[in-house]
Amino acid sequence: MQETIYILDFGSQYTQLIARRVRELNVYCEIHPFHSIPGPGPNVKGIILSGSPFSIRDKNAPIPDLKGIQGSLPLLGICYGAQYLAQANGGEVRSSAHREYGRANLSYVDTGSPLMKQVSQGSQVWMSHGDTIIKLPGNYRVISSTENIKVGAFHVTGESTFGLQFHPEVFHTTEGKQVLYNFLADVCGCSMSWTPDSFIDLTVKELHDKLGDDNVVLGISGGVDSSVAAMLLHQAIGSRLTSIFVDNGLLRKNEFGNVLQTYKKLGLNVIGVDARAKFLDDLAGITDPEMKRKSIGKNFIEVFEEEARKLKNVRWLAQGTIYPDVIESVSVNGPSAKIKSHHNVGGLPDKMNLEIVEPLKLLFKDEVRRVGKAIGLDPVILQRHPFPGPGLAVRILGDITGDKVRMLQEADDIFIGGLIETGLYEEVWQAGVVLLPVKSVGVMGDERTYEKAVALRAVTSTDGMTADWAKLPYDFLARVSNDIINKVRGINRVVYDISSKPPATIEWE
Ligand code: XMP
Repeated sequence: MQETIYILDFGSQYTQLIARRVRELNVYCEIHPFHSIPGPGPNVKGIILSGSPFSIRDKNAPIPDLKGIQGSLPLLGICYGAQYLAQANGGEVRSSAHREYGRANLSYVDTGSPLMKQVSQGSQVWMSHGDTIIKLPGNYRVISSTENIKVGAFHVTGESTFGLQFHPEVFHTTEGKQVLYNFLADVCGCSMSWTPDSFIDLTVKELHDKLGDDNVVLGISGGVDSSVAAMLLHQAIGSRLTSIFVDNGLLRKNEFGNVLQTYKKLGLNVIGVDARAKFLDDLAGITDPEMKRKSIGKNFIEVFEEEARKLKNVRWLAQGTIYPDVIESVSVNGPSAKIKSHHNVGGLPDKMNLEIVEPLKLLFKDEVRRVGKAIGLDPVILQRHPFPGPGLAVRILGDITGDKVRMLQEADDIFIGGLIETGLYEEVWQAGVVLLPVKSVGVMGDERTYEKAVALRAVTSTDGMTADWAKLPYDFLARVSNDIINKVRGINRVVYDISSKPPATIEWE
């Protein structure tokens, strides 16, 4: 049985980060909204309460039901979570005279407390709170303080319940990992044995039990997520998995052939479908980014459905969904605004009467990569930059034509090839070229030119949610610019995008 930690989400921006840290310590954890805590089974070793944008003094502050939990299971409240534990048990929380944001140092540490073992006096911690616990309930004991805050951390006597005013999950809390380790290992008694190998063993077994002798179909994109999903399913059910790779005419240069070959080498049962004409015909004349996505989504479903129908007795549709796609963060400020609709195979399962299987839906991207490595996925696929489902369609601003696709494929190939050659590819999170809907004047030889411009885009990021433009060396950019202008007919100008996200996005559409 897999040891599990529950993280109750009160809407903090750091909730996912807590989960990442726990998993980095080789403990499996799940995030659940504070108001729907699944009945903890015997495998649940402890519970962490996250922070929150709310004040505990707000009328509509989120209140969890910890009946049967506090006192029975190890509990760690972080920031709002700690304030809730204090206030709900008779303590007092007030608005701080000074809101405390940023670095502070622990002026008192009770290293005799299991939570604070091996944490240094003076250790730097990260604070982010407007409220302070000014009075603890009678059986609560202070186990660390800062100059400004008496209750930096507390322990409830007679229980395995702890609270932290600072954020152990944030990088700037230099010994935060030790504090989390102490909670997980010493307080919860976790064996810290959740590794990529154990994930693979367990998942393959679960898939095998769940899918039995059924046939499964999977859409693959050549990216890390769907490839790792394919490998896991392949280990579980072998040739009863059929993977479908669709060429929508918007892939990178040579990508279709290369990816198909890689999959075949891995022993996967894969069907490659050339549907370039269908996609490009349907896109003709469309300039609106969301309309492009809709057109591509619709055509993908049609092609996929047609191929899948040719297979006999398919009962399951597998998807490479990962954890950030499924976490339902507590909607504290209403549902987050939809910025871009992301392309998936929504609509298919109902239409085709298929059930869904998502073997990676509990993993973060870096964990997917580690699992991929452990399962023997080709390093070329493993290290691949993310690539949007609608492909080059959202990198051709304005309408899409076959000529523009070819032009962009050539320019993209020069840029990405250059990044790989110089070893810069692994330093950036994602890179690509954008074909702009403008023409500008240039001069080549004795000729005046009036041709297209492209923008190079390269960003650093950890999850794609925020990103910074990559500070690529000037001489590298100069070489790429020169190569593109000399080799790709129709382009006479190259610019470099120096916008970060937010306020810009990674893609231009
Ligand atoms: P943005 O442009 O929103 O992109 O900063 C964040 C990440 O998502 C990718 N992206 C997409 N992926 N379908 C996808 O599967 C889409 O429609 C789509 N739009 C953007 C983008 O490449 C980046 O990795």
